Amino acid sequence: MGNSNSTTTMTSVPKPNSHYKCRNCQYPRGGPQRYAVPDDKVSWKTNYPEYAPPEFTSESVSSGPVWADPGVTEKGPPPLKWNTVHGKVNRVSHMGQYEVVNGLPQNPVGRTGIRSRGHLGRWGPNHAADPIVTRWKRDKNGSKVIHPTTKKPILQFVAIQRKDSGEWAIPGGMVDAGERVSVTLKREFAEEAMNSLEANSEEKEKIKKSLETLFSKGVEVYRGYVDDPRNTDNVWMETVAYNFHDDTGDSVGKFNLNAGDDAGNVKWTDISSSLQLFASHVDFIEKVAKKNNAHW
Ligand code: BGC
Repeated sequence: MGNSNSTTTMTSVPKPNSHYKCRNCQYPRGGPQRYAVPDDKVSWKTNYPEYAPPEFTSESVSSGPVWADPGVTEKGPPPLKWNTVHGKVNRVSHMGQYEVVNGLPQNPVGRTGIRSRGHLGRWGPNHAADPIVTRWKRDKNGSKVIHPTTKKPILQFVAIQRKDSGEWAIPGGMVDAGERVSVTLKREFAEEAMNSLEANSEEKEKIKKSLETLFSKGVEVYRGYVDDPRNTDNVWMETVAYNFHDDTGDSVGKFNLNAGDDAGNVKWTDISSSLQLFASHVDFIEKVAKKNNAHW
Protein backbone atom coordinates (compact mmCIF):
# COMPACT_ATOMS: atom_id res chain seq x y z
CA MET A 1 0.00 0.00 0.00
CA GLY A 2 3.00 2.29 -0.32
CA ASN A 3 3.73 4.62 2.52
CA SER A 4 0.56 4.81 4.55
CA ASN A 5 2.24 6.08 7.70
CA SER A 6 0.45 9.36 8.40
CA THR A 7 3.27 10.57 10.62
CA THR A 8 5.42 11.29 7.57
CA THR A 9 5.64 14.96 6.65
CA MET A 10 5.07 15.31 2.92
CA THR A 11 6.48 18.65 1.82
CA SER A 12 5.34 18.07 -1.76
CA VAL A 13 1.63 18.05 -0.87
CA PRO A 14 -0.04 21.01 -2.61
CA LYS A 15 -1.81 23.37 -0.20
CA PRO A 16 -5.35 24.30 -1.30
CA ASN A 17 -5.44 28.08 -1.79
CA SER A 18 -8.91 28.43 -0.32
CA HIS A 19 -11.74 26.64 1.45
CA TYR A 20 -15.51 27.08 1.02
CA LYS A 21 -17.46 24.58 3.12
CA CYS A 22 -15.92 25.88 6.35
CA ARG A 23 -16.65 29.54 5.67
CA ASN A 24 -19.66 31.92 5.55
CA CYS A 25 -22.17 29.47 7.05
CA GLN A 26 -23.55 28.38 10.39
CA TYR A 27 -21.19 26.02 12.24
CA PRO A 28 -22.84 22.55 12.10
CA ARG A 29 -24.90 20.95 14.89
CA GLY A 30 -25.60 23.81 17.27
CA GLY A 31 -22.66 26.07 16.51
CA PRO A 32 -22.83 29.84 15.92
CA GLN A 33 -22.88 31.72 12.62
CA ARG A 34 -19.32 32.11 11.36
CA TYR A 35 -17.88 35.62 11.02
CA ALA A 36 -17.97 36.56 7.32
CA VAL A 37 -14.74 35.83 5.43
CA PRO A 38 -14.78 37.07 1.82
CA ASP A 39 -12.57 35.28 -0.75
CA ASP A 40 -9.91 37.98 -0.60
CA LYS A 41 -9.69 37.80 3.22
CA VAL A 42 -9.07 34.06 3.59
CA SER A 43 -5.29 34.38 3.63
CA TRP A 44 -3.74 35.25 7.01
CA LYS A 45 -1.31 37.44 5.08
CA THR A 46 -4.15 39.81 4.13
CA ASN A 47 -5.06 42.41 6.75
CA TYR A 48 -8.58 42.09 8.15
CA PRO A 49 -8.56 44.36 11.25
CA GLU A 50 -12.28 44.06 11.98
CA TYR A 51 -12.11 40.21 11.98
CA ALA A 52 -13.80 39.06 15.23
CA PRO A 53 -14.77 35.37 14.92
CA PRO A 54 -16.86 33.78 17.71
CA GLU A 55 -15.43 30.92 19.79
CA PHE A 56 -17.16 27.57 19.92
CA THR A 57 -16.31 24.22 21.47
CA SER A 58 -19.06 21.62 21.65
CA GLU A 59 -20.01 19.99 24.93
CA SER A 60 -18.90 16.57 23.60
CA VAL A 61 -15.35 17.95 23.23
CA SER A 62 -15.13 20.19 26.32
CA SER A 63 -16.36 17.37 28.59
CA GLY A 64 -12.91 15.79 28.06
CA PRO A 65 -13.39 12.41 26.31
CA VAL A 66 -10.25 10.31 25.67
CA TRP A 67 -10.13 11.35 22.00
CA ALA A 68 -9.94 15.08 22.82
CA ASP A 69 -7.09 17.36 23.92
CA PRO A 70 -7.29 19.53 27.03
CA GLY A 71 -8.85 22.95 26.51
CA VAL A 72 -7.62 26.48 27.20
CA THR A 73 -7.67 27.24 30.96
CA GLU A 74 -6.97 30.36 33.01
CA LYS A 75 -3.29 29.32 32.75
CA GLY A 76 -3.55 29.64 28.97
CA PRO A 77 -3.39 27.22 26.03
CA PRO A 78 -2.58 23.55 26.79
CA PRO A 79 1.18 22.87 26.84
CA LEU A 80 1.16 20.42 23.92
CA LYS A 81 4.01 19.85 21.47
CA TRP A 82 2.96 21.05 18.04
CA ASN A 83 4.17 19.89 14.60
CA THR A 84 5.32 16.57 16.04
CA VAL A 85 4.09 13.17 17.16
CA HIS A 86 3.41 13.75 20.85
CA GLY A 87 2.84 10.58 22.86
CA LYS A 88 0.70 8.60 20.46
CA VAL A 89 -0.99 11.66 19.01
CA ASN A 90 0.06 12.72 15.53
CA ARG A 91 0.17 16.53 15.47
CA VAL A 92 2.10 16.64 12.20
CA SER A 93 0.31 18.15 9.21
CA HIS A 94 0.58 16.47 5.80
CA MET A 95 1.18 19.94 4.43
CA GLY A 96 4.30 20.80 6.40
CA GLN A 97 4.82 23.10 9.40
CA TYR A 98 1.80 25.06 10.56
CA GLU A 99 2.05 28.32 12.50
CA VAL A 100 1.32 28.48 16.22
CA VAL A 101 -0.19 31.84 17.17
CA ASN A 102 -0.84 32.81 20.81
CA GLY A 103 -0.09 29.22 21.80
CA LEU A 104 -2.60 27.60 19.40
CA PRO A 105 -2.21 26.09 15.90
CA GLN A 106 -3.41 28.26 13.02
CA ASN A 107 -5.44 26.82 10.13
CA PRO A 108 -2.88 26.54 7.28
CA VAL A 109 -5.38 27.46 4.53
CA GLY A 110 -6.69 30.58 6.22
CA ARG A 111 -9.56 32.19 8.13
CA THR A 112 -12.77 30.23 8.74
CA GLY A 113 -14.85 32.76 10.72
CA ILE A 114 -14.79 30.75 13.96
CA ARG A 115 -12.21 29.95 16.68
CA SER A 116 -11.54 27.12 19.12
CA ARG A 117 -12.29 23.41 18.56
CA GLY A 118 -15.93 23.17 17.49
CA HIS A 119 -16.67 19.45 17.19
CA LEU A 120 -13.06 18.35 16.64
CA GLY A 121 -11.02 16.83 19.45
CA ARG A 122 -7.46 17.77 18.52
CA TRP A 123 -6.01 21.25 18.29
CA GLY A 124 -4.35 21.53 14.86
CA PRO A 125 -4.66 18.65 12.38
CA ASN A 126 -7.26 15.93 13.01
CA HIS A 127 -6.33 12.89 10.92
CA ALA A 128 -8.79 10.76 8.97
CA ALA A 129 -8.49 8.02 6.34
CA ASP A 130 -10.85 7.39 3.42
CA PRO A 131 -11.25 4.06 1.58
CA ILE A 132 -12.66 4.55 -1.93
CA VAL A 133 -13.85 1.10 -2.97
CA THR A 134 -14.75 0.88 -6.67
CA ARG A 135 -16.07 -1.53 -9.30
CA TRP A 136 -17.31 -1.12 -12.88
CA LYS A 137 -21.04 -0.70 -13.39
CA ARG A 138 -22.21 -3.80 -15.31
CA ASP A 139 -25.40 -4.75 -17.11
CA LYS A 140 -27.36 -8.01 -16.66
CA ASN A 141 -24.89 -9.84 -18.92
CA GLY A 142 -21.91 -8.66 -16.96
CA SER A 143 -20.71 -6.17 -19.62
CA LYS A 144 -19.41 -2.76 -18.54
CA VAL A 145 -21.98 0.04 -18.92
CA ILE A 146 -20.63 2.77 -21.21
CA HIS A 147 -21.79 6.37 -20.80
CA PRO A 148 -23.54 7.52 -24.01
CA THR A 149 -21.88 10.97 -24.08
CA THR A 150 -18.30 10.38 -22.92
CA LYS A 151 -18.18 6.80 -24.28
CA LYS A 152 -16.31 5.84 -21.12
CA PRO A 153 -17.24 3.03 -18.71
CA ILE A 154 -19.06 4.08 -15.55
CA LEU A 155 -17.33 3.47 -12.26
CA GLN A 156 -19.23 2.92 -9.01
CA PHE A 157 -18.01 3.48 -5.45
CA VAL A 158 -19.32 2.49 -2.04
CA ALA A 159 -20.93 5.58 -0.50
CA ILE A 160 -22.46 5.95 2.94
CA GLN A 161 -24.95 8.49 4.21
CA ARG A 162 -23.50 10.19 7.29
CA LYS A 163 -25.70 10.23 10.36
CA ASP A 164 -24.33 13.62 11.50
CA SER A 165 -25.08 15.73 8.40
CA GLY A 166 -27.26 13.43 6.24
CA GLU A 167 -24.83 13.94 3.34
CA TRP A 168 -23.45 11.10 1.20
CA ALA A 169 -19.76 10.46 1.71
CA ILE A 170 -16.85 8.05 1.48
CA PRO A 171 -17.00 5.62 4.45
CA GLY A 172 -13.92 7.09 6.13
CA GLY A 173 -13.13 7.87 9.72
CA MET A 174 -10.69 9.22 12.23
CA VAL A 175 -7.28 7.62 12.69
CA ASP A 176 -7.17 6.58 16.36
CA ALA A 177 -4.12 7.63 18.39
CA GLY A 178 -1.19 5.38 17.45
CA GLU A 179 -3.18 3.57 14.74
CA ARG A 180 -1.72 2.85 11.29
CA VAL A 181 -3.68 4.38 8.38
CA SER A 182 -3.94 0.96 6.69
CA VAL A 183 -5.75 -0.31 9.80
CA THR A 184 -8.12 2.70 9.93
CA LEU A 185 -9.10 2.22 6.28
CA LYS A 186 -10.13 -1.40 6.80
CA ARG A 187 -11.76 -0.80 10.18
CA GLU A 188 -13.89 2.12 9.00
CA PHE A 189 -15.03 0.30 5.86
CA ALA A 190 -15.93 -2.79 7.86
CA GLU A 191 -17.82 -0.76 10.51
CA GLU A 192 -19.68 1.66 8.24
CA ALA A 193 -20.27 -0.30 5.03
CA MET A 194 -20.45 -3.85 6.39
CA ASN A 195 -21.72 -3.22 9.91
CA SER A 196 -18.99 -5.38 11.43
CA LEU A 197 -19.70 -3.95 14.91
CA GLU A 198 -23.00 -5.86 15.01
CA ALA A 199 -21.77 -9.01 13.27
CA ASN A 200 -21.28 -12.27 15.18
CA SER A 201 -17.75 -13.66 15.39
CA GLU A 202 -18.21 -15.99 12.39
CA GLU A 203 -19.47 -13.11 10.22
CA LYS A 204 -16.66 -10.88 11.50
CA GLU A 205 -14.11 -13.45 10.38
CA LYS A 206 -15.71 -13.61 6.91
CA ILE A 207 -15.70 -9.80 6.59
CA LYS A 208 -12.07 -9.67 7.68
CA LYS A 209 -11.01 -12.29 5.11
CA SER A 210 -12.84 -10.67 2.19
CA LEU A 211 -11.31 -7.28 2.99
CA GLU A 212 -7.74 -8.60 3.47
CA THR A 213 -7.12 -9.27 -0.24
CA LEU A 214 -8.78 -6.18 -1.65
CA PHE A 215 -7.24 -3.84 0.89
CA SER A 216 -3.75 -5.22 0.31
CA LYS A 217 -3.65 -3.42 -3.07
CA GLY A 218 -4.56 0.24 -2.63
CA VAL A 219 -3.47 3.31 -4.54
CA GLU A 220 -3.10 6.60 -2.69
CA VAL A 221 -5.15 9.30 -4.46
CA TYR A 222 -5.01 12.16 -1.95
CA ARG A 223 -3.15 13.24 1.16
CA GLY A 224 -3.71 16.60 2.82
CA TYR A 225 -6.17 19.22 4.03
CA VAL A 226 -9.94 18.63 3.75
CA ASP A 227 -12.45 21.47 3.33
CA ASP A 228 -14.57 20.07 6.16
CA PRO A 229 -17.55 21.97 7.66
CA ARG A 230 -16.13 21.36 11.17
CA ASN A 231 -12.84 23.22 10.52
CA THR A 232 -12.07 26.35 12.52
CA ASP A 233 -9.15 28.79 12.74
CA ASN A 234 -7.46 26.40 15.23
CA VAL A 235 -8.55 22.90 14.15
CA TRP A 236 -8.92 21.23 10.77
CA MET A 237 -9.37 17.85 9.09
CA GLU A 238 -6.72 16.13 7.01
CA THR A 239 -7.05 12.79 5.28
CA VAL A 240 -5.30 10.11 3.29
CA ALA A 241 -7.59 8.66 0.62
CA TYR A 242 -6.89 5.30 -1.03
CA ASN A 243 -8.59 3.68 -4.00
CA PHE A 244 -9.26 -0.05 -3.73
CA HIS A 245 -10.47 -1.07 -7.18
CA ASP A 246 -12.06 -4.41 -8.00
CA ASP A 247 -11.53 -4.58 -11.76
CA THR A 248 -13.28 -7.89 -12.35
CA GLY A 249 -16.11 -7.32 -9.88
CA ASP A 250 -15.36 -10.68 -8.25
CA SER A 251 -14.44 -9.52 -4.76
CA VAL A 252 -16.01 -6.24 -3.59
CA GLY A 253 -18.65 -6.48 -6.28
CA LYS A 254 -20.12 -9.33 -4.26
CA PHE A 255 -19.94 -7.71 -0.85
CA ASN A 256 -23.08 -7.61 1.19
CA LEU A 257 -23.31 -3.91 2.03
CA ASN A 258 -24.90 -3.14 5.37
CA ALA A 259 -24.75 0.30 6.98
CA GLY A 260 -23.44 0.53 10.54
CA ASP A 261 -21.81 2.82 13.14
CA ASP A 262 -21.76 6.48 11.88
CA ALA A 263 -23.49 5.50 8.61
CA GLY A 264 -27.26 5.52 8.17
CA ASN A 265 -27.29 4.12 4.63
CA VAL A 266 -24.84 2.53 2.23
CA LYS A 267 -24.96 1.93 -1.54
CA TRP A 268 -22.99 1.46 -4.74
CA THR A 269 -23.10 4.91 -6.36
CA ASP A 270 -22.43 5.83 -10.01
CA ILE A 271 -19.50 8.20 -10.36
CA SER A 272 -20.04 11.38 -12.39
CA SER A 273 -19.29 15.10 -12.14
CA SER A 274 -22.83 15.75 -10.87
CA LEU A 275 -22.16 13.97 -7.55
CA GLN A 276 -22.65 16.05 -4.41
CA LEU A 277 -20.77 14.75 -1.40
CA PHE A 278 -19.68 15.70 2.12
CA ALA A 279 -16.62 18.02 2.57
CA SER A 280 -14.16 17.76 -0.35
CA HIS A 281 -14.91 14.09 -1.07
CA VAL A 282 -15.99 14.87 -4.64
CA ASP A 283 -12.41 16.01 -5.41
CA PHE A 284 -11.02 12.62 -4.34
CA ILE A 285 -13.67 10.79 -6.39
CA GLU A 286 -12.78 12.86 -9.47
CA LYS A 287 -9.13 11.77 -9.08
CA VAL A 288 -10.26 8.13 -8.90
CA ALA A 289 -12.42 8.48 -12.04
CA LYS A 290 -9.54 10.03 -13.99
CA LYS A 291 -7.01 7.48 -12.72
CA ASN A 292 -9.23 4.61 -13.89
CA ASN A 293 -10.07 6.38 -17.19
CA ALA A 294 -13.76 6.20 -16.28
CA HIS A 295 -16.72 8.45 -17.12
CA TRP A 296 -16.71 11.67 -15.09
C1 BGC B 1 -14.73 11.42 7.76
C2 BGC B 1 -13.83 11.26 6.55
C3 BGC B 1 -13.50 12.65 6.05
C4 BGC B 1 -12.90 13.49 7.15
C5 BGC B 1 -12.61 14.88 6.69
C6 BGC B 1 -14.10 12.29 8.81
O1 BGC B 1 -15.05 12.48 9.83
O2 BGC B 1 -15.07 10.17 8.30
O3 BGC B 1 -14.52 10.57 5.55
O4 BGC B 1 -12.64 12.64 4.93
O5 BGC B 1 -13.78 13.55 8.26
O6 BGC B 1 -13.74 15.54 6.25
